[in-house]
Amino acid sequence: MFFLSIASAFSCLVLACSGAVIDTRDTVITSDTFFYGQSPPVYPTPPMPGVGPWSAAYNKAKALVAQMTLEEQANITVGYASTSVCSGVTGSVPRLGWDGLCLSDAGNGLRSTELVNGWPSGIHVGASWNKDLAYSRALQMGGEFKTKGVHVALGPVVGPLGRVAVSGRNWEGISNDPYLCGQLAYETVRGIQEAGVITSVKHFIGNEQETNRSPSKNVSAVSANIDDKAIHELYLWPFQDAVHAGAGCVMCSYNRVNNSYSCQNSKMQNGLLKAELGFEGFIVTDWGAQHAGIAGAEAGLDLVMPSSATWGVSGGNLTIAVNNGSLAESRVTDMATRIIAAWYQMGQDEGFPDADLGMSEAYTTPKKVVNGRKAASKPVLLNGALEGHVLVKNVNNALPLKKPQLLSVFGYDAVAPPTMDVPFTGGSSSWIMGYEAYPNIPNGYTSFGIADQVARNGTIISGGGSGANAPAYISAPFDALQNQIYEDDTSLYWDFVSANPAVDSSSDACLVFINAFATEGLDRVGLHGELSSFEYDFSDSLVLNVAANCSNTIVIIHNAGLRLVDQWIDHPNVTALIFAHLPGQDSGRALVQLLYGVQSPSGKLPYTVAKNESDINVYMQSLPEGQYALFPQSDYSEGVYIDYRDFDAKNITPRYEFGFGLTYTTFEYSNLAISLLPNASTSFLPPTSAVLEGGVSSLWDVLVKVSATVTNTGTVAAAEVAQLYVGIPNGPVKQLRGFSKVDIPLGASVTVSFELTRRDLSEWDVVLQSWVLQQATYNIWVGASSRILPLAGTVVIG
Ligand SMILES: *[C@@H]1O[C@H](CO)[C@@H](O)[C@H](O)[C@H]1NC(C)=O
Ligand SMILES: *[C@@H]1O[C@H](CO)[C@@H](O)[C@H](O)[C@H]1NC(C)=O
Ligand SMILES: *[C@@H]1O[C@H](CO)[C@@H](O)[C@H](O)[C@H]1NC(C)=O
Ligand SMILES: *[C@@H]1O[C@H](CO)[C@@H](O)[C@H](O)[C@H]1NC(C)=O
Ligand SMILES: *[C@@H]1O[C@H](CO)[C@@H](O)[C@H](O)[C@H]1NC(C)=O
Ligand SMILES: *[C@@H]1O[C@H](CO)[C@@H](O)[C@H](O)[C@H]1NC(C)=O
Ligand SMILES: *[C@@H]1O[C@H](CO)[C@@H](O)[C@H](O)[C@H]1NC(C)=O
Ligand SMILES: *[C@@H]1O[C@H](CO)[C@@H](O)[C@H](O)[C@H]1NC(C)=O
Ligand SMILES: *[C@@H]1O[C@H](CO)[C@@H](O)[C@H](O)[C@H]1NC(C)=O
Ligand SMILES: *[C@@H]1O[C@H](CO)[C@@H](O)[C@H](O)[C@H]1NC(C)=O
Repeated sequence: MFFLSIASAFSCLVLACSGAVIDTRDTVITSDTFFYGQSPPVYPTPPMPGVGPWSAAYNKAKALVAQMTLEEQANITVGYASTSVCSGVTGSVPRLGWDGLCLSDAGNGLRSTELVNGWPSGIHVGASWNKDLAYSRALQMGGEFKTKGVHVALGPVVGPLGRVAVSGRNWEGISNDPYLCGQLAYETVRGIQEAGVITSVKHFIGNEQETNRSPSKNVSAVSANIDDKAIHELYLWPFQDAVHAGAGCVMCSYNRVNNSYSCQNSKMQNGLLKAELGFEGFIVTDWGAQHAGIAGAEAGLDLVMPSSATWGVSGGNLTIAVNNGSLAESRVTDMATRIIAAWYQMGQDEGFPDADLGMSEAYTTPKKVVNGRKAASKPVLLNGALEGHVLVKNVNNALPLKKPQLLSVFGYDAVAPPTMDVPFTGGSSSWIMGYEAYPNIPNGYTSFGIADQVARNGTIISGGGSGANAPAYISAPFDALQNQIYEDDTSLYWDFVSANPAVDSSSDACLVFINAFATEGLDRVGLHGELSSFEYDFSDSLVLNVAANCSNTIVIIHNAGLRLVDQWIDHPNVTALIFAHLPGQDSGRALVQLLYGVQSPSGKLPYTVAKNESDINVYMQSLPEGQYALFPQSDYSEGVYIDYRDFDAKNITPRYEFGFGLTYTTFEYSNLAISLLPNASTSFLPPTSAVLEGGVSSLWDVLVKVSATVTNTGTVAAAEVAQLYVGIPNGPVKQLRGFSKVDIPLGASVTVSFELTRRDLSEWDVVLQSWVLQQATYNIWVGASSRILPLAGTVVIG
């Protein structure tokens, strides 16, 4: 073994290199202080501010916590084993009648229980670009958690943001653009919490890959080494919106950030989240993500799940640490206050169902069955499914279908999976969309060596893992088609099995259904970075085989993340392509309305589709090799240049750009108007103002207003997502800073308007440690995608 000299380690740190100074491929580094990325200490933990909209809840919490003994306060900061199927429950304070909290997964709806809905996934919400819809989905979904007695919904996901193309959890998040992600996360937090349920915004922070997300044996978890500018302008940005919306909880992540575990990282928790963003709620660990004792409490952690070895059963070691003088009692009181205040803030002290009411264990007798579903959810489920479909190719009037005489349907993804696992059997029903329904994905949760990322046993409405749940039903594409062809007197041929099916070339259209599956715990490449060629080859050959014999081949992909299409997209017989994402339980019903023109498609891509992997800046996850063997490192050396920011910077033409999506009509853009508000303070630094939830409140002052006219010049009514991009001087060519989804009747014109805040126009200055407005000319564009920008103007600041 080669031991590094102190001098070379030092020079490497000084140069902020990523290990390039010396050839260390076969060197095993024995200390992570060698690496680029060291997290600075930030102490102490800011106590809960209890200001603005939180002051009433804070005062009530303070009063209740004041009645608790130190032991009782410590008791509610740790998880307990429970007889319910809640993902976790906190300790309680029986003496004061405080029952504790039930925390449960999450993203697609309430997990591990029956009689709930399967909602569209995060990526589908992102593709809808619809703030009202994101809010309604969250309100309805949150209502199901409340009805079942769940206090904390363990979502939404805004990290991973989507830095790494193959990351297994990107589909749980909304978009790899921080603005789009942040805006829709804001609405999601608002909706769930207005239903009376605390949101736990996750995973804080840098959880951009699944490989090595947790330590194993002698290898530590991957360290996300993120510079101060990129963390502010990309990765922290959507958390800031979620905190601004009033999020009552944030979940710290499995990985390390700058070589310090997220859940004991004082810079991230004390510095960024609690001091800079003025976070009023509590920080909970991801399940099993605690790797320190008292040090974690001092670094800002408030609650450990599902139980804590180091704080001890009932948090006993916190009490001992206070009594022996190594932990301030005020920290434990603050932890308890933050937890109780969130409970008051969502009104859970009044009229909330009994904890775990609808979350009884499998074989409890009598089992309490609680229906979480509400009639008001129906239109939201359907619209949610409809609006996240993105039509990207449509030639020869392939779509909408017009009463075809003969329709052929191919592909494993057209039908419902052969088994619909029920909650509780085997104890892991919530992985339904991942492992039970798709046994072709072997080895389960902790295995990382799998290349097959196609769910060949049926359509997917969700990705796999803790974000999935057991939906009430699955409307599969083929089920919904059967109903439609009955109305139209169409004849239907199908083959869901063969990779080279017999094709009747007199078919009016051939629909080919394929998917790209992804799941928590597993990046979409093998352990040693080999590409999951099967994901492409199996499905691509199916498309090509059908296209060889069908001149009107329409491809539908249910994709849990990025899916490239260049093996066949230019084939002359491939006439249409829909990225159908992960629509939730109304999948088929929604798709058929789009295929037949009952509704016009209105989704837009929340990410860029490249022509080839090699065009993508960060395609692969980091792997523990050579000098990284014990301390896997992931240097975010690209800074803010991911997705379209990078395609623009390098002038690479994508297959389909960020923000792109077609519909059945055409739109024209006109009348761009840009005005700098006369009362706007354009001072260099944000005017001194109170730190409220989300940070210095003047960051949200509106400085510039923009409006434009969009006219429907085509043949049918449809909705358009008008997008606004800003060129912040010295930054990426353009960055999304506004979007507005509007229904536009045929022939009508609609005015879309956008408000640009100080934050929207600022850049993070690492020296001043502040958002800074530049005295400069800013370019502003409005249009239909990140590359279809017919309206351009400028605004001069300063
Ligand atoms: C991470 O480490 C790098 C290099 O030491 C440093 O420049 C950067 O500010 C750190 N990031 C954060 C968010 O503190
Ligand atoms: C701590 O919480 C547990 C679990 O809810 C409860 O049984 C116990 O009585 C609590 N301890 C105290 C001291 O209140
Ligand atoms: C304190 O932590 C140690 C080490 O994890 C554990 O063995 C012990 O039971 C804890 N003590 C209490 C009182 O919780
Ligand atoms: C105080 O108690 C904590 C928790 O049990 C322990 O980790 C620490 O070593 C103790 N410190 C002293 C100075 O006894
Ligand atoms: C799922 O598909 C695989 C591969 O085609 C097959 O071996 C397996 O039997 C299928 N499972 C079910 C439940 O149909
Ligand atoms: C498909 O077309 C090829 C020629 O392009 C032909 O040889 C083959 O028989 C056709 N296959 C089917 C199943 O129709
Ligand atoms: C397109 O489909 C027709 C059958 O309708 C077939 O004859 C032709 O060869 C196909 N074109 C290509 C390029 O495969
Ligand atoms: C990317 O390009 C390489 C080299 O040309 C090619 O082998 C590969 O199939 C391409 N991948 C896709 C998805 O088109
Ligand atoms: C990790 O430990 C195993 C034995 O448990 C050993 O074989 C392996 O070489 C170690 N890895 C490194 C990088 O030291
Ligand atoms: C400026 O005026 C607009 C109304 O035109 C108002 O909405 C906005 O809050 C004002 N901004 C500030 C910083 O006072």
